[in-house]
Amino acid sequence: MSEPAGQLDTVMQESRLFPPSAEFSAQSRIKSLSEYEALWNKAAADPSAFWEELAKNELHWFTPFTETLRWNEPYAEWFVGGKTNASYNCLDKHVAEGRGDQTAIIWEGEPGDQKKLTYAELLAKVCKCASALKSLGIQQGDVVSIYMPMTPELAIAMLACARIGAIHSVIFAGFSAEAIAERNNDAKAKLIITADASWRRGKALPLKHTVDEALKKSPTVKHCIVLDRVNEAVHWTPGRDHWWHDLMRQASAECPATPLDSEAPLFILYTSGSTGKPKGIKHSTAGYNLYAKKTFEWVFDHRAEDIYWCTADCGWITGHSYVVYGPLSAGATVLMYEGAPNAPQEDRFWDIIERHKVTVFYTAPTAIRAFIKWGDHHVTKHDLSSLRLLGSVGEGINPEAWMWYHRLIGGERCPIVDTWWQTETGGIMMSPLPGAIATKPGSCTKPLPGIIPQIVDASGKEVDAHHGGWLVMAHPWPGMLRGIWGDDERYREVYWSKTPGKYLAGDNARRDADGYYWIMGRIDDVLNVSGHRLSTIEIESALVSHPAVAEAAAVGRPDDLKGEAVAVFVTLKSGQPNEALRKELVQHVRKQIGALAQPDDVRFTGSLPKTRSGKIMRRLLRDIAAGKESVGDTTTLEDYSVLASLRQDEE
Ligand code: PRX
Repeated sequence: MSEPAGQLDTVMQESRLFPPSAEFSAQSRIKSLSEYEALWNKAAADPSAFWEELAKNELHWFTPFTETLRWNEPYAEWFVGGKTNASYNCLDKHVAEGRGDQTAIIWEGEPGDQKKLTYAELLAKVCKCASALKSLGIQQGDVVSIYMPMTPELAIAMLACARIGAIHSVIFAGFSAEAIAERNNDAKAKLIITADASWRRGKALPLKHTVDEALKKSPTVKHCIVLDRVNEAVHWTPGRDHWWHDLMRQASAECPATPLDSEAPLFILYTSGSTGKPKGIKHSTAGYNLYAKKTFEWVFDHRAEDIYWCTADCGWITGHSYVVYGPLSAGATVLMYEGAPNAPQEDRFWDIIERHKVTVFYTAPTAIRAFIKWGDHHVTKHDLSSLRLLGSVGEGINPEAWMWYHRLIGGERCPIVDTWWQTETGGIMMSPLPGAIATKPGSCTKPLPGIIPQIVDASGKEVDAHHGGWLVMAHPWPGMLRGIWGDDERYREVYWSKTPGKYLAGDNARRDADGYYWIMGRIDDVLNVSGHRLSTIEIESALVSHPAVAEAAAVGRPDDLKGEAVAVFVTLKSGQPNEALRKELVQHVRKQIGALAQPDDVRFTGSLPKTRSGKIMRRLLRDIAAGKESVGDTTTLEDYSVLASLRQDEE
């Protein structure tokens, strides 16, 4: 861990307070601070009773549960003995209750093509897709990888898996063939669903080609389903490869949702940790489903007439919880967009909001910073008056970006919900409830009902207001991860060993005198690049797999757009650095992990600065990368020995 807890007290002063308008509060689900506090206190007094009541009322049960929480630290089982199905809760329940004609998904492709699916239509497609999976031998408990563009078929594929108890593992469509193969092998995936290609800024990205490469190294994957999205020529392996449209044509329309144990795994989602190997975060059926639904309704203050748009890709947890499972369980109308925010022009998002009359908009600070850079004129030429609520996720939102979002996009009338959560938490943990909690730019404000955060020092003791420390959760919650796929040891070690009895989130935070939480960054070697988690060690392993590289260190440096950029320091086995090699190393990381991990700076050094005990001096490297330490000419081999000897005792 890079910083000891308790030593990160901050000098940041942010005193502006933005209460919701009386009009907004009056129409909200939770209308005042006192109403929120009453709910939070009730939940904290008896979390199990609180969740029990919600689970009974909010989910469909084929068989009712008999025990609310069985807590065998660090393993939680929620709603034990019950049987439900997330696909049923997202689809059949609404159709059965007479909402089949309501629009579930409004989709816009990057080239401008559009589709609308009602809940009844979505259910019909999910049934066929689930039948198709069964026809290829997929059974309950099998893992299905999904590597697809943001099309309705991606949501259909996820819900089809959920319907029959297959466990989906969605792999973001920017990952490389190596990364796909690693995930396929770790999860022992039996089938993968992809598309010929995906549209990105007018170009077709060849997804099937990347999957073909991955499948050369994925012996457990026997079948590949291919959606014809772009009409690209693809290589075909007969017997293994199947067109989506052929399977859907032949598939049975009958496919009732399988009653599944509450704790049956719903999905695995890989995320980076502080080792080179990504962690397969495991989520369960009932607890996750309930948590995604309730947090969606609370935080986005869901109303039947909303057109809700979350810009996240389903390759990330935000897409799982707040494009698919949360909003669909709540019966919302969800907008999905396939492409880039600057295709064909930098006003694409505002154009979409104006045309579809989006009311709730949820995006990431990195996107907001790009919009600011592109210029206000792209925004002001559109009518954004349909918006009533804005959200932010993935990293802290700096107060300047917050104010711009508030003024330009929200017209100073829309509350902003800055939502703190993680792949592991399954859903939002801390966020303003928009009708009840006044916001402070840069703070995720307060915990949701049923969530009990604490800030502790390294001995597990709670620290006082305004003191930095480790953020932990003092009580299990239904949406929490159920483990790391195939690695119990790592699950215990990462989340439970340093703060026994409490979930260690991996972030530093502080709480102010008003009880508002301020996230202060990671406590491990995990970078946050454009709102995505990257492990420095994963990048280092990728670099040393190149034949020219002897040793490598990756660190983050501040970046105006991405939040953090990736800076790498490399020593060579022999020879001198040159521009061609620099480019080759960038491409090499891209090939090993994917474009999102591509280094922004590559610096060559004769040796990496190390402490006497042999640890890489990461703090020194971070300062060098950020330009705080001058090292002279960076075009040749750099020498940090003098700086290193000055810093020996600090690191
Ligand atoms: O460091 C926190 C940061 O993102 C991490 C979780 O990353 P991931 O699992 O990829 O999930 C991202 C989407 C939920 C956290 O440990 N983070 C996320 N949201 C915020 C944040 N940091 C500050 N403020 C936020 N609102």
